[in-house]
Amino acid sequence: MEKKYKLGILVSGRGSNLQAIIDAIQKGEVNAEIAVIISNKKKALALEKGDRYGIPALFLDPKLYGSKKDYDLALVEKLQSYAPDLICLAGYMRILRTEFIQAFAGRIINIHPSLLPSFPGLHAQKQALDHGVKIAGCTVHLVEEEVDAGPIILQAAVPVLNEDNEDSLSARILQQEHIIYPQAIQMFIEGRVGNSMKAKTVETQ
Ligand code: GRF
Repeated sequence: MEKKYKLGILVSGRGSNLQAIIDAIQKGEVNAEIAVIISNKKKALALEKGDRYGIPALFLDPKLYGSKKDYDLALVEKLQSYAPDLICLAGYMRILRTEFIQAFAGRIINIHPSLLPSFPGLHAQKQALDHGVKIAGCTVHLVEEEVDAGPIILQAAVPVLNEDNEDSLSARILQQEHIIYPQAIQMFIEGRVGNSMKAKTVETQ
């Protein structure tokens, strides 16, 4: 039988991107299985999907570790025990340290709710509104040490409407996130994403 790609998913919250990945796997659009879901937040709704879909889902408590480095080293160890091929950040709200990024070099991807390199960091949708852009969107990219940077895999654009507020714009962007995140994962699985941390270009579809 063909070996299934194993995904390790890091979450902190609601888990709608995780759900989109689960749905795409079930539909056969992503040729992978989720090996583990790990959250840094005990109450993350995303963890409930573990029970629902029979996926190991763990809360790794930051309070149990003396430093951010220790936490990330524990996270690496925990993830490695599930032997993931690719780490997907799906609303994971902690900055990953060097040790983590090096442990999975070139095998970590993230989704961000802006057209990077515009509006990295928190509240990207509000940043876009405050700036008055007319086109917003989302980006899936390989993770490097700089936050919300790294080679871009896929992007999707949405219009910003005059009557938009942060919630309405976020909802329109989120619909696109749910489309491009599974697509980007499948591209990675098919070897269509450069593994070089130096590569600034990635083959497009
Ligand atoms: C998404 O907007 C994602 O782009 C950002 O965090 C949010 C996570 O949402 N990184 P969800 O937990 O996947 O619903």
